[in-house]
Amino acid sequence: MSDLTRQKILFNDGWKFFLGDSNDFSGVSFNDSLWKDLVLPHDWDTEHPVEEKNAAGSGGGYAKCGIGWYRKKFSATDGGRTVLQFDGVFQDSTVFLNGVPVGGWLYGYSEFTVDLTEHLKPGENLLAVRVDNSRQPNSRWYTGSGIYRNVYLIKLNEVHLRQNGLYIATNGIYNDNSIARIQIQSWVQNEGKSPVDVTTQHRILDADGNEVASSGSVLSIEPEGEGHTMVIPSIEKPHLWSDKDPYLYTVETSLIVDSKTVDTICTKTGIRTAVFDSDRGFLLSGVRTKIKGMCIHHDCGLAGAANYKEIWKRRLLRLKDMGCNGIRMAHNPPSVELLDLCDEMGFLVMDEAFDEWLLTKQKSAPALMSDLNQYGYSPFFGRDRQADLVKMLHRDRNHPSIIIWSIGNEIPEQSALHGPEIINELQAICNREDPTRHVTLACVDIKAHDMYRTLEAFETALDVVGYNYVARWGMRTETLYDDDKREFPKRKFLGSENPSAGGKRGLYQITPLDATPAFRSDYDKVTLRSAFLWRYTASRDFVAGDYLWTGIDYLGEARWPSKNAISGPIDTAGFQKDTFYYFRSLWNDEQRTLHILPHWNWKGKEGEYISVIGYTSYDSVSLYVNGKHVGTKGYDYPNVGSMGSWNILAKNTRPTTHDFHLQWDALYEPGELKAIGYIECKPAAELIIKTTGEPAKLKAKSDINNIPHFGIAQIEIETEDKDGLFVPTADNLVSVKTEGNIEFLGMDNGDNLDHTPWYDPKRKMLAGRLLCIVRGMKKGSGKITLSSDGLNDVVLNFQIE
Ligand code: GAL
Repeated sequence: MSDLTRQKILFNDGWKFFLGDSNDFSGVSFNDSLWKDLVLPHDWDTEHPVEEKNAAGSGGGYAKCGIGWYRKKFSATDGGRTVLQFDGVFQDSTVFLNGVPVGGWLYGYSEFTVDLTEHLKPGENLLAVRVDNSRQPNSRWYTGSGIYRNVYLIKLNEVHLRQNGLYIATNGIYNDNSIARIQIQSWVQNEGKSPVDVTTQHRILDADGNEVASSGSVLSIEPEGEGHTMVIPSIEKPHLWSDKDPYLYTVETSLIVDSKTVDTICTKTGIRTAVFDSDRGFLLSGVRTKIKGMCIHHDCGLAGAANYKEIWKRRLLRLKDMGCNGIRMAHNPPSVELLDLCDEMGFLVMDEAFDEWLLTKQKSAPALMSDLNQYGYSPFFGRDRQADLVKMLHRDRNHPSIIIWSIGNEIPEQSALHGPEIINELQAICNREDPTRHVTLACVDIKAHDMYRTLEAFETALDVVGYNYVARWGMRTETLYDDDKREFPKRKFLGSENPSAGGKRGLYQITPLDATPAFRSDYDKVTLRSAFLWRYTASRDFVAGDYLWTGIDYLGEARWPSKNAISGPIDTAGFQKDTFYYFRSLWNDEQRTLHILPHWNWKGKEGEYISVIGYTSYDSVSLYVNGKHVGTKGYDYPNVGSMGSWNILAKNTRPTTHDFHLQWDALYEPGELKAIGYIECKPAAELIIKTTGEPAKLKAKSDINNIPHFGIAQIEIETEDKDGLFVPTADNLVSVKTEGNIEFLGMDNGDNLDHTPWYDPKRKMLAGRLLCIVRGMKKGSGKITLSSDGLNDVVLNFQIE
């Protein structure tokens, strides 16, 4: 046996790409010198304009799709096993090594590995990956196409932990939180020809790197066999993981054979229990915790499906600031980086496996509709469901942020006779692989008055019943969960998907009644439906909480000319809409919110009444126009009598509205709109919105100036008028020029109707804002110059580390 221990090498650079298909592309002698050079992650759909005629259709965001090939040359090193790990390839991939097919995977959201060992040659080797996303439409949302997540080359000793072969779970927290027992299981493979005795050793380190517990065991493994072992170390005075305090430990696992360490792996873990209760809702380590959650899809806006941890971090920081504490991974296993962030930042995650079982769903606009041209997961469910579900469970079960598994979303089998049988099968797999978490399914049409209604046996088969759009059907609009609580007192209730509050950022108009949702304004009463539901959910302990549709706008699921859904409080570019502050005023119980809308640039409307809306967690708010008092208002909820529910900071309100928003009719005159927030009748915060002049200065701010190698910088661009005021109505066309070792990834303004390709170096602002993302490609320096007609240039310099 060699002395090799595990090496995990990011394998993202040095790839060649071509959009097209030929059997020759896997060949060693094929000349790929004219192919595009790239560094993963990569989504080729971002390299083409959205076009109405594209077969991906309205569901898939009018993306190009098709068949593409990747090739990469690399040198093999001697000894041990060599494995490639693909975190996600959309979809239907085939991997060739030196012309020989060695593996691949269909489901684009599943991690898979390919063992290269048998076909590696000394010296140079050639990898080729064929990706087939040509069967369209195949999704109800934008999927992206290509190797859109990371790839790793893993070198292993012949004795090693199985891929995702560690399971770390909180076994229990005892004696008033003074001791926790952690259950660690390992699966060890011996790929050698002789039997081995392996010692497994686990050290648990706190966040400062101090060892707080350790444990080990000995295993005897047959040649080419696998061993399984378990230990249950205890930690005294554990620092528990929670949404408010996401404290992480590290488990360092080593395998030792003949006094030599042959494998080492470090896994982050958090100590907590996650239990759903029919009366008390969701209990995190025994503490009632209301889930204030949001559903998200997997795209990264202008990067398409190409997964960048930094993009998620910027978005999740904003969702946290909003008071959101939960994320539902709709409707597929997410990237590992996203789960890591949820662990680090404290989000309560619903991890979901499928959007489709055996019965297919409509993917696109009616013209394309027919069961025969819908290519989702359903043709493969019969073959792959167990493997894909187990892949998700094995990869994800160590993440403390995940509090529940979902085996499906709005599965049409909910009204089919064999539905409960499939639930039983999938739920049993979840319970077998991870007995510490409950299982749900996001049901829709519960009590619907038609043939699609969810069968009672289907709901009853679930650990926790996920309700999508609980208010959708008939009388339920008023009573929400009440009837079912009476009928099924032992049922565990979770709002798995309910209305969020989206709209178009910065659009202030009263939407005509016949307008499609794509044109709905931020200004309409978009919060009313979710306000009605939140008032209910906040005061009913038995409802564990909600995941709302959605937290962030996402590509796809939009009718042309709209290219993306606008259902979130944050747009595709990561900018907060007004509705962001609506949620913040209700959900952020640490910082208060004072927000009013619209802006105060209404040239031509002098002397007209303008509706001013306010979202606040101050007790009351006074509004002034140029010093004249318009009125003082407050929410009627929470109020005396509803205290102690899952509420916000506000007390002693001066009630004027039940709807979680304030509203004034203010006579427009240019100048100053001022809001004063009161706590217990004393002024505590002030917000001023002024009428601004035309844009006079271009401004840009990057989140970082020292970009890690292949990392990205996210640059927010806006304008100021001559007095230095942010111009909320600016729609300037901005151009970007890059120099040095950086690559332009794209620009986005969040506008669902803007068809300018992501890669176009010119884009208009929307409502005063624009996002630009660049990538650091090589060590050294780089710079970008931003310009807009009539304004100053802005130069930003970067160091790439
Ligand atoms: C839900 C569905 C989501 C999304 C949403 C759009 O019924 O679960 O995936 O399609 O509707 O409103």
